[in-house]
Amino acid sequence: MKEAAQRGNEKMEVMTFGSANGKEYGLNDTGRPVVNFDIKTRRTLRAPDGDDTKTGNENAAKAKHCFDIGNLDLFYGDFQALKNVNMGIEQGEVTAFIGPSGCGKSTLIKTLNRMNDLVEGCRVTGDVELFGENIYGAIDVNLLRKRVGMVFQKPNPFPLSVYDNIAFGPRTHGVRSRYELDKIVETSLRDTAIWDEVKDRLKKPALDLSGGQQQRLCIARALAVSPEVILLDEPTSALDPVSTGKIEELLLTLRGKYSIIIVTHNMQQAARISDKTAFFLLGEAIEYNDTETMFAMPKDKRTEDYITGRFG
Ligand SMILES: Nc1ncnc2c1ncn2[C@@H]1O[C@H](COP(=O)(O)OP(=O)(O)O)[C@@H](O)[C@H]1O
Ligand SMILES: [Mg+2]
Repeated sequence: MKEAAQRGNEKMEVMTFGSANGKEYGLNDTGRPVVNFDIKTRRTLRAPDGDDTKTGNENAAKAKHCFDIGNLDLFYGDFQALKNVNMGIEQGEVTAFIGPSGCGKSTLIKTLNRMNDLVEGCRVTGDVELFGENIYGAIDVNLLRKRVGMVFQKPNPFPLSVYDNIAFGPRTHGVRSRYELDKIVETSLRDTAIWDEVKDRLKKPALDLSGGQQQRLCIARALAVSPEVILLDEPTSALDPVSTGKIEELLLTLRGKYSIIIVTHNMQQAARISDKTAFFLLGEAIEYNDTETMFAMPKDKRTEDYITGRFG
C-alpha cells in the first residue's frame, strides 16, 4: 500500500504498518521506521474479514518453489534495473543473491513482497508467483507482506518496548488475547535465540539493545506474523563479526521451516549459509546454481571473475 506522507518539508512514501500508543508506525521503502506520520487515507494492515491465519500453506505443501519469477523486467522511470529475470526459488532453502553494488539485488528482493510499490515511477512487467499465485494480480498486499517478511540492512526496531515490537504485527492482524501475544512474543524471541538476553527487559525500549540484538529482534518481529518466506537485504553488513556469526547460525536454524532469501555482498557468507546462489550483473541474473557448484565451478566467465575477486 502506498501512502504519501508529509514530515516537515520531506515528502516520502511509507508502508503503513499499524498503530500503537495512539501513533501510526510504518516503514519507508528503505526500511526506515516512520512514526506518527500524517496520512490522507488511513488504512491499517488488518486483513480483510475472514480467516487471516490461512497463509497458503496448503498450496505450499504441493509446490517445490516458493517463488517462480518469469520474464521479470523492472523500470525506475526510464531506467531498467532488472532485465528478464527467470528463476525458481526453492521452498525451505536459503537462497543468496550476490553481485556488485547496483546490480539490482535489493530491487529484486523488494519486488518479491511489492515493496517497490512504494517507489514513485517504478514499473514491473513479467510474472512473480508465490506458491503459484500471481502477486501482481488481485492480491491483498498486506497479506502478501505478512506471508513474505522483510529484514533490512540497518536494524530498524520501532521506538517501542521489546515486547511491543514483536507483538506489533500480530496485534495489527487482530490478535488481542494477552495469553496469545505472550506466547507469540516468547516463541519468536526463542526462535531467534535472543530470549535469554531480553526476557528480563521485555518492557524496556528495543532501541537500548545492541545492534546485533536489534537485528535479531527485527528477525523475531518478522517471524511473529508466521511468514512463509523471509527476505533479508544485507542483514549483517552493519554488524560486527560476532553478531554476524549469530545471525548466520540463526538463519541456518530457521532454514527448512521458512524459505529464506538473503542479499549479501559477502561471498563467504553466501558460501557458508546458502543452498543456492544467484549472481547478478547490471540487472541480469547471470548464473543461478547450487552454491557449492557455483563457487567451485562457475559456468560463466563473469561469475568466475566476480567470485575470484577480479571486480565488485
Ligand atoms: N528508487 C530508485 N529510483 C531510481 N533508481 C533506483 C532506485 N533504486 C535503485 N535504483 C537503481 O537501480 C539499480 C539497482 O539498484 P539496487 O537494486 O539498489 O542494487 P543493489 O542492491 O544490487 O546494490 C542501481 O542502478 C540503482 O541506482
Ligand atoms: Mg542493495
